[in-house]
Amino acid sequence: MNETVKTKRPRKPKELENQPGKYDERNKLNDLTGKDWLLLTRSYWISETTTLDRTAYAHPAPFMIEDVKKLISMYTKLGMTVLDPFVGSGTTLIAASLLNRNSIGIDLNEQYRDLFLNRANDSKLSLGNAKYIVGDSLVCLDSVHDVDYIVTSPPYHNILRNDSKGTRSNNGKQYRMAARDGVGYYSEEPNDLGNFDEYCDFINAFSAIMKKAIACLKSSRYASIVISDFTVNKQEHPVISDIVKSMIDIGYEYCGTTVLLQTVKPLYPFGYPYAYKINHHHQSIVTFRKPIDFVML
Ligand SMILES: C[S@@+](CC[C@H](N)C(=O)[O-])C[C@H]1O[C@@H](n2cnc3c(N)ncnc32)[C@H](O)[C@@H]1O
Repeated sequence: MNETVKTKRPRKPKELENQPGKYDERNKLNDLTGKDWLLLTRSYWISETTTLDRTAYAHPAPFMIEDVKKLISMYTKLGMTVLDPFVGSGTTLIAASLLNRNSIGIDLNEQYRDLFLNRANDSKLSLGNAKYIVGDSLVCLDSVHDVDYIVTSPPYHNILRNDSKGTRSNNGKQYRMAARDGVGYYSEEPNDLGNFDEYCDFINAFSAIMKKAIACLKSSRYASIVISDFTVNKQEHPVISDIVKSMIDIGYEYCGTTVLLQTVKPLYPFGYPYAYKINHHHQSIVTFRKPIDFVML
């Protein structure tokens, strides 16, 4: 006997009615149509800048707003909560507000909270439910709960303190190529991850914070770390592998790496003409998931 199976037509959330592609109502991860979801699964993205990024110039290493918006739209739905435990100039909070998500950011340096408030003010952004906490994430994360997505980028050990020429000048369009001036490292605080002398202490401190963070994250939800390999004492370090290993040791499940191409950086002849030295022109967005059966050890 032939039975006709009636399937319910997927309904798009109202806000997405004008977007092309089909929305699947089984989608618990995000509000994207199948077409937009697929585009974000490509293993490389080209980093995009907008005029709003220029207001972050007083921070030595800010995210680009459009890059974070893509991540938030992949891993959350409207009204969900995003956490950044190293929020700096507040880019994650700005991107989350632009997408109508709630957000919590933590940073040790009070001046960066002021920078974030000025950024929001200059750009006339309505911050909705964005919360900026000043303090050490190792402590502050104890009071954070029910997070749907974590996106963050830690200090790159002490490379700013050792190698930086400072923050970039705010010279309009060419901001990312602009000369550096001003203070080049984050703070003098001993618990600042940018202030440890030993690389292994930096990895351990990062790991301790991400262990606290997994307790704030809802089950089956995602965490993305934006990081790159770098050189410590003239020796290139496999930082990404060390970060992935420490996240897996905590209990996060590894989901994959998206290469974020930074196509406008200048090339430097670091080792020329004696030795090969790499020019880092990409960041890696390394994504993890909290397993449904996660148990804190
Ligand atoms: C790479 S920056 C993050 C930049 C940020 N994504 C943005 O868009 O501006 C890392 C930040 O971590 C902060 N930080 C370092 N150690 C910390 C700690 N123990 N707790 C909280 N924040 C910390 C620094 O002050 C710095 O602003």
